[in-house]
Amino acid sequence: MGKGSGYGKVILFGEHFVVHGVPGVVSATDAKTDAEVKKTVQGITINDERKGSKGYAEEKRLQQIESIQRMLKAMDMPADTAMSIWIGGNLPGFSGLGASAASSVAIARAITEEFSLDLPDEKINAVAYEAEKAYAGNPSGIDNTAATYGGLMWFRKNLQGGPDFVERLGIIEPVEIVIGSTGKVANTKAMVEGVAERKKQNPQKYNPLFERVGEIAVEGRKALEAGDLKKVGELMNENHTILQGIEVSSKELDLLVDIARKEGALGAKLTGGGGGGCMVALTPGVELQEKVASAMEKEGFQVLRTKVGVQKQ
Ligand code: MEV
Repeated sequence: MGKGSGYGKVILFGEHFVVHGVPGVVSATDAKTDAEVKKTVQGITINDERKGSKGYAEEKRLQQIESIQRMLKAMDMPADTAMSIWIGGNLPGFSGLGASAASSVAIARAITEEFSLDLPDEKINAVAYEAEKAYAGNPSGIDNTAATYGGLMWFRKNLQGGPDFVERLGIIEPVEIVIGSTGKVANTKAMVEGVAERKKQNPQKYNPLFERVGEIAVEGRKALEAGDLKKVGELMNENHTILQGIEVSSKELDLLVDIARKEGALGAKLTGGGGGGCMVALTPGVELQEKVASAMEKEGFQVLRTKVGVQKQ
């Protein structure tokens, strides 16, 4: 049997804009998706045991099947390769946390082991990028990169098609965050397409927003590296306002963001594709983290208490 894992991720700055070549900052979560793959005699069976939003596995099933076909192609394996796939791990199946990319990386690694392919991380990342196309249509590559390598990263898609610009970032100390889930499964592909369409229709509105998010990513990176968490929080708030402006937030995401800020989070924004899915609140110290997390839970939302900036184990 072959085994593999992939990290979840939280985008701190730049989701959606990264698809169009604007830089972003992403942190892997310490929670991971695990996969096991076993050769069989006929067909592909998938047993998805991830816990998470109701209906997540069902709603993603067709995209998941397409992603595995894309993965096999990228690995030069026959489309009718017979295998059973098990998916689990402690990364919840919430939209926005990179669960699809984490599962693609985990499955690609498990296939590699089971079929003795000996693929380096660079190839696993490329295979997971192909698989992400099933979920995101035109992905930036930020999710699969975080899922493959882990840690805190600066990411800029190479629009010319060469390797993306990726730098590992260091921060002084890992910082507590709270992920709040709306409980709504979102369709990343539709969200990405919607932004591209609106950008095309309304460049006067969208172009300055794209420019500002590029600046926010640069300022956010500097503030993270300098340990200026107050500034990081302010920039997250500004990034959320811009995400509302490009119509990817939702009433539940805005409510979670409001709760987090009222309880004292230094900043809060949606994270990932939006339209449901998750938000992230910057809550340094376990006390503040607990205060924010329990206020969200009191309103009936599921949360994940984790940290950003944890060095890759
Ligand atoms: C999804 O986690 C992030 C998006 O920017 C899509 C992508 O970058 O592929 C919405």
